[in-house]
Amino acid sequence: MPRLENDLSTLGTAAQAYLGKPHVPHIDGGRHETAASYELTDPTSGQVFASVGIASANDVDAAVKSARAALGGTWGRMRPNERELALLRLADLLERNGDEISEIETVCSGRLLGHTKGVDIGYGAHVLRYMAGWATKLEGTTARLSIPYISDGELAGFTYREPIGVVGAIVPWNVALCIAIWKMAPALAAGCTVVLKPAPQTPLSALRFAELALEAGFPAGVINVVTGNGPETGIALVRHPDVNMITFTGSTAIGRQIALETAGSFKRCSLELGGKSPLILFEDSPLDRAIPAAAWAIFGNHGQNCCAGSRLYVHRSIYDQVLAGVVEIAEGIAVGSPLDPGSMMGPVVTRAQQTRIQGLIAKGQAEGARLVTGGTPIDGPGSYVPPTVLADVRPDMTPVREEIFGPVLVAASFDTEAEVIALANDSEYGLGASVWTNDLGRVHHMTRQLEAGSIWINVHNALDVAMPFGGWKNSGVGADLGETAVLAHTKVKSAVHHFP
Ligand code: NAI
Ligand code: MG
Repeated sequence: MPRLENDLSTLGTAAQAYLGKPHVPHIDGGRHETAASYELTDPTSGQVFASVGIASANDVDAAVKSARAALGGTWGRMRPNERELALLRLADLLERNGDEISEIETVCSGRLLGHTKGVDIGYGAHVLRYMAGWATKLEGTTARLSIPYISDGELAGFTYREPIGVVGAIVPWNVALCIAIWKMAPALAAGCTVVLKPAPQTPLSALRFAELALEAGFPAGVINVVTGNGPETGIALVRHPDVNMITFTGSTAIGRQIALETAGSFKRCSLELGGKSPLILFEDSPLDRAIPAAAWAIFGNHGQNCCAGSRLYVHRSIYDQVLAGVVEIAEGIAVGSPLDPGSMMGPVVTRAQQTRIQGLIAKGQAEGARLVTGGTPIDGPGSYVPPTVLADVRPDMTPVREEIFGPVLVAASFDTEAEVIALANDSEYGLGASVWTNDLGRVHHMTRQLEAGSIWINVHNALDVAMPFGGWKNSGVGADLGETAVLAHTKVKSAVHHFP
């Protein structure tokens, strides 16, 4: 078994040196001292390993002023291909510093080193490069016009896509740097400037990223990072009158609060919120792939994914077989230090999340769910939760309705397609859903009927950078990724030209 506590002496020298510094917000291209600070704790040990400044409303104001000035400065005058090249250089620098940044991210979050390397660095660089291409491809339209009350001469019309302005990005800790890049890259491609508020648990990768952006040629003020908590730093950004758009990923409760806060100011809002995404296995599922996919859709990243496959619905004819297969995988998962290459799952992000998850497991059992594996907390200073399966659940049980955001799968069987559509759609959330079948008619029918922003067929969590990713129902408004995300950071200007 891997050890539970991180051995920080195994980190590379770059990460060790970086972690040892006192950390403060990155504003206007440099360090910005704050009056107050807080401490980061290692989720594997509960030990404090770094301190971070808390940006006050005044500090947030300094960041917004810098972002506004950058819009009117060199950045605002850059040609689209210069923005493209800067994003491409940033992707290269992210990869070149990938070992250091993934180690930093792993220590803060408890996520496996392989995951932070693959997703925050690998996928993050991929998103930066994809979005870089959009900088030169923002187009308007032209048309010959016919305005009834202007009868002389000719009229030509054309439109521009202008950057929406200063974007406030508020992100969570579960895939911290990658989500920050999802938010920043389309904004930058569109010509906006950004004030990023990382989650309090995971601010360091974003601060390091902002330094790399300067190295890549982004002028000071284009990317500012305000560290701190939600009620002080986050809300100051949301309420700031000179921020044009808020893009947020996090809980539905805070998303709702942001929607209410911004309603009166007409700030644009893009909200990617919670999920309770179903996996639906029909009797003809390709089980060799479906069973491991079902296990890893929930145990991957310790269940801390907004689109985790957290509800498993299996046709009655294969229910016992699928459940046994998933449980076998769960029981083979080595839980331990995320820095240990032998670990297959690390801790959840904080003690508070561990307590919350354990509470939801206990509630499900009390409501009559059958605990098939896991459930028992792992003793010690780390916030570990074992892979857990609750079977034979009913739709009204708490762990079926609430986003758990931990390695806890709920499973139930079904008999008919109509029954499983009703079960899948019986949720306040609508982020993702996967359907496992080789029946083409069923694929199309299910894709039409499921109430979710992303439908995956014979695969789960397939998030391609070219496909918009956004929730239905209480999973949010707007979408990340794809052309949709780039256009969301623009405003249209139309021009009419009269000539003889
Ligand atoms: P959260 O929604 O409170 O935090 C997300 C971000 O919003 C953080 O940067 C936080 O500092 C900021 N924030 C918090 N309150 C704010 C406010 N009033 N104004 C502006 N910004 C604010 O999520 P939290 O507390 O970290 O996790 C709680 C639960 O939320 C999780 O158990 C999970 O169910 C859900 N969640 C869902 C995520 C997703 O990707 N869908 C990501 C993170 C959490
Ligand atoms: Mg919260």
